[in-house]
Amino acid sequence: MLKALRYFIWDISVKSGRYALLQMLLKDFPGLFGIEIRRRFYRRYFGSMGEDVVIHQDFHARNIHNLFVGNGVHLGESCFIQAAGKVSIGENTIIGPGVKIWSQNHQFKDPTIPIKEQGYTFKEVIIGDDVWIGANAFIMPGAVIGKGAVISAGSLLGGKPIPPYKIVAGNPARIIGKREITGSKSNSQNRSEIPKIASNI
Ligand SMILES: CC(C)(COP(=O)(O)OP(=O)(O)OC[C@H]1O[C@@H](n2cnc3c(N)ncnc32)[C@H](O)[C@@H]1OP(=O)(O)O)[C@@H](O)C(=O)NCCC(=O)NCCS
Repeated sequence: MLKALRYFIWDISVKSGRYALLQMLLKDFPGLFGIEIRRRFYRRYFGSMGEDVVIHQDFHARNIHNLFVGNGVHLGESCFIQAAGKVSIGENTIIGPGVKIWSQNHQFKDPTIPIKEQGYTFKEVIIGDDVWIGANAFIMPGAVIGKGAVISAGSLLGGKPIPPYKIVAGNPARIIGKREITGSKSNSQNRSEIPKIASNI
């Protein structure tokens, strides 16, 4: 019991441990209230956080001090970011529900030592402005996603850079198209009908 207490004291003596405790308390608050309190209380733990960032329920981050997000970013429900190697997310980017973004790997080359004892390698993940990452995509260490790109749901994206405005899909993710205006825009919802308070969510 004393050992557990010592661990707890150590946990809350470091910033990431205090964030983990706060995350446990706030992550499941629903609705606009939940979004507002997570934005306010998590802010100080991020590497940096822009204005109007939306953090949905059950968002998890490790090494949040290495997570840098721009204005208007949406972090989806049950999204999980391991930012040990640094993760930067540009303005107005949408990270869909269940997305995982990882910036560290286990070292594993030496077959005579258990992998869990070989330490880690770190690779920064850079995601540009106005990117949309669909549900349950997995973004690997070293990924670089250009401005305006769309990553299809369930994609597994490695370290190969994705050029701006491309659409990628699959495992491994490949370019399947590019964003461009074709035909009418009549299917898009009229955003002015959405109440102002919720229009950013
Ligand atoms: C990227 C996306 C928007 C593309 O949608 P779209 O423009 O309607 O494209 P389509 O569904 O017509 O697919 C175009 C082609 O790409 C392929 N494709 C699309 N998504 C794919 C995927 N995840 N894996 C493999 N291929 C895929 C389709 O099979 C199709 O191939 P075909 O032309 O040979 O038939 C859509 O696939 C997607 O992932 N949406 C995200 C949904 C989501 O996660 N919502 C959560 C809200 S944040």
